[in-house]
Amino acid sequence: HHVAVLMGGLSSEREVSLVSGRECADALERLGAKVSRIDAGRDLAQVLSALKPDVCFNALHGAWGEDGCVQGVLETLAIPYTHSGVLASALAMDKAKAKAVLAAAGVPVPGGGLYNRYDVAREHVMAPPYVVKANAEGSSVGVFIVRDRANRPPQEILEPSWTYGEQVMVEPFIRGMELAVGVMDGKAMEVTEILTEREFYDYEAKYAEGGSKHIVPARMPAHALEKAKEYSERAHAALGCRGVTRSDLRYDDINDILVLLEVNTQPGMTPTSLVPEQAAAQGVDFDRLVLWITEDAYA
Ligand code: DAL
Ligand code: MG
Repeated sequence: HHVAVLMGGLSSEREVSLVSGRECADALERLGAKVSRIDAGRDLAQVLSALKPDVCFNALHGAWGEDGCVQGVLETLAIPYTHSGVLASALAMDKAKAKAVLAAAGVPVPGGGLYNRYDVAREHVMAPPYVVKANAEGSSVGVFIVRDRANRPPQEILEPSWTYGEQVMVEPFIRGMELAVGVMDGKAMEVTEILTEREFYDYEAKYAEGGSKHIVPARMPAHALEKAKEYSERAHAALGCRGVTRSDLRYDDINDILVLLEVNTQPGMTPTSLVPEQAAAQGVDFDRLVLWITEDAYA
């Protein structure tokens, strides 16, 4: 088969996607596939029309590549592609919309909601601690934690460099453990506990070598581990996802509160990423994971 690996793209996660794409393309070549590495730009439809690959491996992250837009292009071109379709991708990328769907499906999500960025920067719109985040970005781009009343709300959201929307998500901060659960073929893999010496699992912690430590399975009570898996499977299904996703959760171990923050429809496939680690913990090595994801595009 001729596989086009889509990578790079136009989002704030471009650099991450170039790494995910390189890793996946290398794996496909080791597996003997013919591979074209495509840096996905505005001319993607023309490039793919001329190339005529059998399947696209979508290794894009963030806006345009993970939010249904590229998926729409691929539907239009009738090229099979990996991961979720148009609707699930669009829903999952919009944190506010996804939370509404997840809550309706009985998955606990943080409270809070969308606020105008000027209101958020002016005063505390809820009692600290709370989190301010871009509504539709990944890799913790545009995330701020306001710990207490002595902190000012983040002023960065007013700067011209803030290109992440007029409305920002504000949620109560949930203390405790940071977790991630991969879902493959509708079934939860493992629960990873993420430890970092940084303030939280931010961009540096995610991608710098040694930026975080991962413990699989997470050190939490059995009932909470089961719930983390159950919520992740339910979230994957409620959004209508396909292939592999990764849900991010927080567990307040003192108060026994577990919430699901979001579902990532094209989880990172970099050397520091969590889904490949969880697959490996189940005996599925990176090449087999990439093969499964690719074959699932036809399923
Ligand atoms: N958005 C990054 C790539 C992830 O979810 O892994
Ligand atoms: Mg994300």
